[in-house]
Amino acid sequence: MLSLSGRHCIITGGSRGIGLAIAHRFASEGASITLVGRDQTTLDNAVKELPIPLHQGTPPNHGACAFNVKDSSRWSDMVTFMRDAERKVDVLVNAAGISQNSFMFKTSLHQAKEIVDVNLMGTMYGCQLLLPTMMRQKSGKVNRMFDSFITNNKATPGCIINISSLLATHAGRGAAAYAASKAGVVSLTRALAWEAGRFGIRANVILPGYIETDMTKSMSDDDLKALIPMGRLGKVAEVADAAAFLAKNPYAHNTVLNLDGGLSAT
Ligand code: NAI
Repeated sequence: MLSLSGRHCIITGGSRGIGLAIAHRFASEGASITLVGRDQTTLDNAVKELPIPLHQGTPPNHGACAFNVKDSSRWSDMVTFMRDAERKVDVLVNAAGISQNSFMFKTSLHQAKEIVDVNLMGTMYGCQLLLPTMMRQKSGKVNRMFDSFITNNKATPGCIINISSLLATHAGRGAAAYAASKAGVVSLTRALAWEAGRFGIRANVILPGYIETDMTKSMSDDDLKALIPMGRLGKVAEVADAAAFLAKNPYAHNTVLNLDGGLSAT
């Protein structure tokens, strides 16, 4: 298994919920974290709460960067910042997302576009703009004849973990744009697994069912629980555990991981 100790992870949607739980789990295993979200003060407060275990004598250098993930120019600024600060990117977790609770015919075009822009394009920009950084870290050389990458075994392979949703593959009412955006995230991840895998970078996607966060606060009723074979909503720590597995298992690549208490079986 790979270790998270000494690795640097960028986590979008890191101010709360699933993203923040992943940040805590990774930091508790010795990773340094850069949280991405919309509000700098909220992120700075979240950073203060992250565990700071020592690894190789140096405390991990956590940080935060507030920007809207649908803004590709802000992603580019971040890449420049990472390069100038000589910070590596070992793991990218795209967890930022917004939900929908309205039938398609009642959803404005602006709302639908916003959901796709944040959930799908925000994830795509992060992958697209940080991949070259992750590839450069893998010291090696391109074998033009086989269009492949000869890797240096000493380099740590990079990893992308995208957070999609059960609704990417199962119908849900009032979530058409959301479902479409999350299906896009699954397809994006699969395509990246093929393309980036040649460069030693793994790409995986988690499809959570209903997880207890601000996003589902209004849904936690008994009717919903009765639909879930496990009889309850999931916990953020359970999603974080899945993310840790994907980050550390060197053979986890193109994994499409349902984490829904069995709801996808119904
Ligand atoms: P949440 O609402 O608690 O947190 C969302 C996070 O994303 C926050 O940190 C927020 O600041 C950030 N964010 C939202 N829009 C952003 C933007 N435009 N730019 C930058 N940051 C932005 O949500 P939760 O539940 O933690 O969800 C995390 C991810 O998991 C989302 O992608 C969501 O779609 C997905 N998901 C959640 C499920 C659930 O039941 N909670 C189920 C399936 C998927």
